[in-house]
Amino acid sequence: MARAPTPDFRLDASFPRLKALIIERTGHFYYQDKDDVLWDRVRRRIHATNARDCAGYLERLADEARGDGEWSLLETEITIGETFFFRYVEQFTALRRTILPDLIARNREERRIRIWSAGCSTGAEPYSLAILLTELLGAERESWRISILGTDINEAFLATARQGRFGKWALRSMPPDERARYFTAESEGRWLLRPEYRSLVRFERHNLLSLLDGTSPLQFTDFDLVLCRNVLIYFHPDTVLRIVGALRDCLVADGWLLLGHAEPNPSFASLMQSVSLPGTAAYRRPPEGAAPPPELSPPVSPGLLPLAPPVWMPIIPKATAEPPRSAPAAAKPPPRSPPSRLPSGAVRPPPAAKGSGSVLEAVRAKANAGHVAEARALCGLGIEADPVSAELHFYDGLLAQAMDLHLDAEKSFRRSIYLDKNFIMAHYHLGLLLLANGRQAPGKRSLANAARLASGLADGQVLPEGDGVRAGDVRALVRVHLDAVAAAGAEG
Ligand SMILES: C[S@@+](CC[C@H](N)C(=O)[O-])C[C@H]1O[C@@H](n2cnc3c(N)ncnc32)[C@H](O)[C@@H]1O
Repeated sequence: MARAPTPDFRLDASFPRLKALIIERTGHFYYQDKDDVLWDRVRRRIHATNARDCAGYLERLADEARGDGEWSLLETEITIGETFFFRYVEQFTALRRTILPDLIARNREERRIRIWSAGCSTGAEPYSLAILLTELLGAERESWRISILGTDINEAFLATARQGRFGKWALRSMPPDERARYFTAESEGRWLLRPEYRSLVRFERHNLLSLLDGTSPLQFTDFDLVLCRNVLIYFHPDTVLRIVGALRDCLVADGWLLLGHAEPNPSFASLMQSVSLPGTAAYRRPPEGAAPPPELSPPVSPGLLPLAPPVWMPIIPKATAEPPRSAPAAAKPPPRSPPSRLPSGAVRPPPAAKGSGSVLEAVRAKANAGHVAEARALCGLGIEADPVSAELHFYDGLLAQAMDLHLDAEKSFRRSIYLDKNFIMAHYHLGLLLLANGRQAPGKRSLANAARLASGLADGQVLPEGDGVRAGDVRALVRVHLDAVAAAGAEG
């Protein structure tokens, strides 16, 4: 019979040792000041293994026969795998216009490209690259050797990634015609990536910390491009710096490194050449012996246009317990609360603690696991308990949109804006929804509202419920969308 685990980590003398070991093994310094969040995750494994308490569970982790397997299950429990196809339009625009064309030009003789997506979660990132490279190479593709490696610490994510099967949620940034081009539809809203893209990517389990102790596979070298996006945000700043240095050493000279959208750090400039691309930063490994050169802004490759106008559809923002970002000024989102009591544009106090935070976390977890309808049902219960939560109505809108319930989505975004008229992401998503449904005038108005509100903030200000998106990004994205509408109008 399963023993009930210790009910409270504060009563368990071995919890600090277990926590220290987890941080040391996974790098997840994020949990340093989040005992209750960590306990919630660890408790499930303690319970599942029938360990009496943390000390018993530590014995299990140290067990010669079963320890490795248990570590793997624990890592699966404590890692966060939010991802979707073509996540962060600016970075994919930079890849499409500058970085991949550069690799193609430089490797034209050898006709070989090696890419590593480190911390790839369920595979949307390396598969997006496979799609992009295939499109860019066109008829030449068959004569090139493309190798894209996806690695992650979480075995369960990798198992999902290898299948190449995705739900609408992971494909939410992809217009239906592109989805039909790259995937074959299966039952129940599932889509299977076509074999020509799947075959370019292979997946392996790999802990990034192994780069620091010399146990990383020797063949992880000579990559033309490494992406390590939204992984290092969980790590201690010192570890981040060491890992970035180690990732640089896995690149060929002049090879590219892309970190997360909100992860640039001034100290990286001492390690690599920082390259400023529209809306994003990238890094390059300087040639052997060269001092890190000053920041560059390479021209956009003129002959290579994007596959389609950059689209940026709903994103489900990360959990509320967001780890610290490297840039403190950008880390603190502008607080939000129902603004009816405040003049427009005023800095608002943080929302009152109403308990919707844990509901939001549960909603996000369900949605990210692909259970969109269940996530929406949970969101509905949250709204019943807290009908004036602008955030819950906003999520309800995103989820309704992912379920193709456009009228519901519109109503929810509007309710959210009614409760908080300064909610930039709600205006933005309402605008995109209306444009996608051919309602140009109100769509343009909503986007303009988002841009106007974003203009009142510093460019680098990270927006609430925006998945790391900054005020400056929203302004730039609104311009892209309005230009695309104008261009379509001119063509029609
Ligand atoms: C938020 S996801 C990012 C996925 C993808 N890079 C993206 O941006 O869409 C973070 C991923 O990093 C992985 N991860 C966390 N710690 C890791 C470690 N020490 N080594 C390798 N992967 C790790 C997690 O399992 C998770 O899949």
